[in-house]
Amino acid sequence: MKELIRQFKSAIKEIQTDIASLKEPKFVSKRISLEQEHYLLKNQLPVKLVIGKKHHIPDILYIERMSYQGLAPWGRSALESDIMQNAKSLYYVLYDGHTPVGFLGAREETEDIHITNIAIVPDYQQIGAATLLLMMLEEFALTENIPSISLEVRVSNQKAKSLYEKIGFRSVRIKKNYYNGDGEDALEMNWLLPVAGPEEREKRHADEYH
Ligand SMILES: CC(C)(COP(=O)(O)OP(=O)(O)OC[C@H]1O[C@@H](n2cnc3c(N)ncnc32)[C@H](O)[C@@H]1OP(=O)(O)O)[C@@H](O)C(=O)NCCC(=O)NCCS
Repeated sequence: MKELIRQFKSAIKEIQTDIASLKEPKFVSKRISLEQEHYLLKNQLPVKLVIGKKHHIPDILYIERMSYQGLAPWGRSALESDIMQNAKSLYYVLYDGHTPVGFLGAREETEDIHITNIAIVPDYQQIGAATLLLMMLEEFALTENIPSISLEVRVSNQKAKSLYEKIGFRSVRIKKNYYNGDGEDALEMNWLLPVAGPEEREKRHADEYH
């Protein structure tokens, strides 16, 4: 009888664990892993790429302060809630040794990945760091079969617009009075990736399972 009760308790515990794991949001940052961590920038500087987690937040804030002349568009609490509570957020952070170089923040939607922020510390600009981060995001989108990457950029931000155009983004439309504070307009941009369309994906799925 004792053994029967023990087995019953253990079965209940297993079911409870299964239910708990079903309830857990599938965080993008926990789901993905990087195939490669080390890269060389254009000037042959070796950098390390990591998936941004809670303990990287002070470094991301440092990068923001440095690259936006002291004005961080995302404060600590917004970053904390995005990284720790938003299952669809994805952050890449680049390091030169222990020194933060730059980061990219994005949000995964069903048919699009939206870049929420990208910034490189001035000492490390113009050596391909932002390009590397965008390439990593492209790789992720292709793996996940997500057909586009989108973003908004200040209409006055020539450096960033030139970067995005070079990568393959195209202008979509102007969003008037978009930015809080100064009310500057934003240019919405979109990068269409060569992934299979919904019909082809469905067909592939059917082929795989028949
Ligand atoms: C925009 C930013 C992310 C670019 O980062 P970066 O690492 O210097 O970019 P890369 O070295 O990968 O540059 C790639 C391309 O971007 C453009 N670019 C970058 N810096 C530029 C500059 N100072 N002037 C003109 N074009 C520039 C060029 O097209 C460049 O190609 P090239 O090297 O063949 O000339 C960086 O300047 C930055 O952090 N700016 C402040 C934060 C910001 O504005 N973020 C964008 C928010 S939407």
